[in-house]
Amino acid sequence: MKQILDEAIKGEYGVGAFNVNNMEQIQGIMQAASETKSPLIIQASRGALKYTKMLYLKYLMVAAAEDNPDIPIALHLDHGNNFETCKQAIELGFSSVMIDGSLKEDSKTHTTFEENVEVTAKVVEYAHKFGVTVEGELGTLGGIEDGVGSGSILLTDPADAERFVKLTGVDALALAIGTSHGAYKFKQAPVLAMDIISEVKKRLPDTPLVMHGSSSVPESLVDIINKYGGNIQHAMGVPIKSIQEAIKRGVKKINVDTDGRLAITGAIRKYMAEHPEVIDPRDYFGEARKAVYETVKSKMIDFGTAGHAGDYKPKTLSDMIEFYKSKQK
Ligand code: G3H
Ligand code: 13P
Ligand code: ZN
Repeated sequence: MKQILDEAIKGEYGVGAFNVNNMEQIQGIMQAASETKSPLIIQASRGALKYTKMLYLKYLMVAAAEDNPDIPIALHLDHGNNFETCKQAIELGFSSVMIDGSLKEDSKTHTTFEENVEVTAKVVEYAHKFGVTVEGELGTLGGIEDGVGSGSILLTDPADAERFVKLTGVDALALAIGTSHGAYKFKQAPVLAMDIISEVKKRLPDTPLVMHGSSSVPESLVDIINKYGGNIQHAMGVPIKSIQEAIKRGVKKINVDTDGRLAITGAIRKYMAEHPEVIDPRDYFGEARKAVYETVKSKMIDFGTAGHAGDYKPKTLSDMIEFYKSKQK
């Protein structure tokens, strides 16, 4: 993932990090990447790994990479909650892990700066030996509806961010600028602390920054769900324009889960409602796959990722092991 994000800094574009849980979702995302020639990150949460008993998801992710040899792709652990989870993901073959040391292992209670540094540095030391990239997080997101997040927002302090990266050696840093996970990010017009991105970027020009909670929750997707029997009220996400501004200011990894969920749910509801006789899951899962493809494709264009897949030759984990070794000297 380090190379993908470093290249994004050079090329001044953002890269989507899409949460995955099943085959259709992965295939929809990969079709979008392949057609738009976009590098990408596919990421598994702890919930996704539990749901799929790990191995199933691992092999689907590996299949995505094998099936698309011309697309730079990182297989990433999202919100690792402790050292062991990150170690397990590395053993599973992920090329990148996030240690979310901003929260304790329960993924709810805030940690101190020192506790965060301690666990993050430990993961970095271990992961780099295997050539694996590490994302850390400083500050916490709001939102508790998806089980990840403290419920109270603690924005990132830029001076702390600089110290944190120097003390831990993380490759990428997730900032808290007012976003949260899920479909209900704001009660009124979205306000994000964009200045934090610029300030951190000034202090850490070579560190790719990460924005969690970046789903846009498009009205068009919510409307389909509601039209076909769903009940999603007052949902609101991060407007694409804000994401584009964040990319300009230094965000390079853009985490998206909720929009994929909305696309899948709407497509299945619609298909089922219009085809009450359907019993073949391939029919409605196929529609879900198409909806994911469309949603992700437009993001790859909007984030500026499209067309960049061929800009460089992807590094292997062995290349990265050598890279991290040489950095230590
Ligand atoms: O980080 C949050 C993602 O949306 C993952 O959600 O834990 O329900 O899989 P999940
Ligand atoms: P959304 O809920 O906005 O899609 O955010 C996903 C995320 O940050 C995963 O880590
Ligand atoms: Zn997240």
